Amino acid sequence: GDGVFKYYSSGEWKKSSSGKSVPIINPTTRQPHFKVQACTQEEVNKLIEEAKTAQKSWAKTPLWKRAELLHKAAALLKEHKVPIAECLVKEIAKPAKDAATEAVRSGDLVSYCAEEGVRVLGEGKFMVSDSFPGNERTKYCLTAKIPLGVILAIPPFNYPVNLAVSKIAPALIAGNSIVLKPPTQGAVAALHMVHCFHLAGFPKGLISCVTGRGSEIGDFLTMHPMHSGTAYARDRKQSNDLVELYLHCPDVLICGLNIFCCCFTGGDTGIAISKKAGMIPLQMELGGKDACIILDDADLDLAAANIVKGGFSYSGQRCTAVKVVLVMESVANALVEKVKAKVAKLTVGLPEDDSDITPVVTESSANFIEGLVVDAKQKGATFCQEYRREGNLIWPLLLDNVRPDMRIAWEEPFGPVLPVIRITSVEEGIHHCNASNFGLQGCVFTRDISKAILISDAMETGTVQINSAPARGPDHFPFQGLKDSGIGSQGITNSINMMTKIKTTVINLP
Ligand code: G3H
Repeated sequence: GDGVFKYYSSGEWKKSSSGKSVPIINPTTRQPHFKVQACTQEEVNKLIEEAKTAQKSWAKTPLWKRAELLHKAAALLKEHKVPIAECLVKEIAKPAKDAATEAVRSGDLVSYCAEEGVRVLGEGKFMVSDSFPGNERTKYCLTAKIPLGVILAIPPFNYPVNLAVSKIAPALIAGNSIVLKPPTQGAVAALHMVHCFHLAGFPKGLISCVTGRGSEIGDFLTMHPMHSGTAYARDRKQSNDLVELYLHCPDVLICGLNIFCCCFTGGDTGIAISKKAGMIPLQMELGGKDACIILDDADLDLAAANIVKGGFSYSGQRCTAVKVVLVMESVANALVEKVKAKVAKLTVGLPEDDSDITPVVTESSANFIEGLVVDAKQKGATFCQEYRREGNLIWPLLLDNVRPDMRIAWEEPFGPVLPVIRITSVEEGIHHCNASNFGLQGCVFTRDISKAILISDAMETGTVQINSAPARGPDHFPFQGLKDSGIGSQGITNSINMMTKIKTTVINLP
């Protein structure tokens, strides 16, 4: 055809009536690689209407049948891991092996979700009235979990497939319908993933995937009286163009009677969305500044290996990346030497070659990272390697002797640059960690488990890892951020529960 990938609505692949497309820039070549449809507001409205209708009968479909379809989709995702991974390599420069892992992990997540759903949703609660003072045993209360309705899922560029299915699968098993807006970088991988759900045979309209650029529809949207003057923001990390659409058009998409829940992973834009959202549950994961605290009794080889893996995998473009090392002065020289030695072994180059460090997602992201590096240089950080950049490719960089007046001490680079702050007490480390507006995860390295637990208790983050780098998985573990890092808790079981409401029926006996 015209080389523009179609969007998915009413169980069909469609061209937008806009006649326009959005290019997807390959981060490596910095040239357009794919194109997706620039959908219109009418098209968005239509698929939301269809999702509302489809959800009603889906909720009545037996739970075991819903699970069966999810198992089919999971198997198809694994079967199609090669084309999905190829898209991830071209669209987001994810190293080839990690790209394949993302597809397989996604299949595993979907089947686990189907299994967990039949247990979590397959049972309710029975209560009687006479346990509360003043009541006789005349009321029986039956509790069930019911779906919310249409759920809007917005994954970020760094896991366009995995962080889509982590929203889609719990939504579907719980009897909801899904409107997916993938990030522009990663949209084609997401469309391939949606194709697996299509092949599995889900009912028409239950799942839809809309692509587009807010600016294509912005004029039309802002002409609506309700929308004029609404805030306009762009998520640097995500280039999530529909985010613009939300902010122009909040009532169409996230408030009121159409969308009943919004699940978002990304950056600051989530805060703006949460301010616009109506009375609906939100699940948001908005980044972090995960600290790695190294005590003087730590296994430094273990710590160094985790710092390099945690700080530099996918070139630091993970919300759970190690983003600041807080090391006791007494072991700092030894640790920095070990980390330097491992950084020197990282391969830098093409995602197709499965290099460790690959180009960051956009030029603006590379420029932002460079801004943090320049600031650190001006303020006297020690550069453990020479700063080097070609296009969007930034060589891994460890910055020692970082001080709190440097931006890199607080901001998320979302790139392969890692600051080290030397501390003279554990309290200083905890204080730095807790002074952040983020609170996603953190980690502590020590051989003293009691100390580790006390530090974990003191760290204001959703998770603390003892003797390992931060990570979201395994995907059935709870995953949540405190403060600006998010709203709600994810992980398969928590997501299923979050995407339901409690409904009670009370039987009143004579
Ligand atoms: O980027 C945010 C992801 O939730 C992190 O997931 O820890 O599996 O890389 P990950």
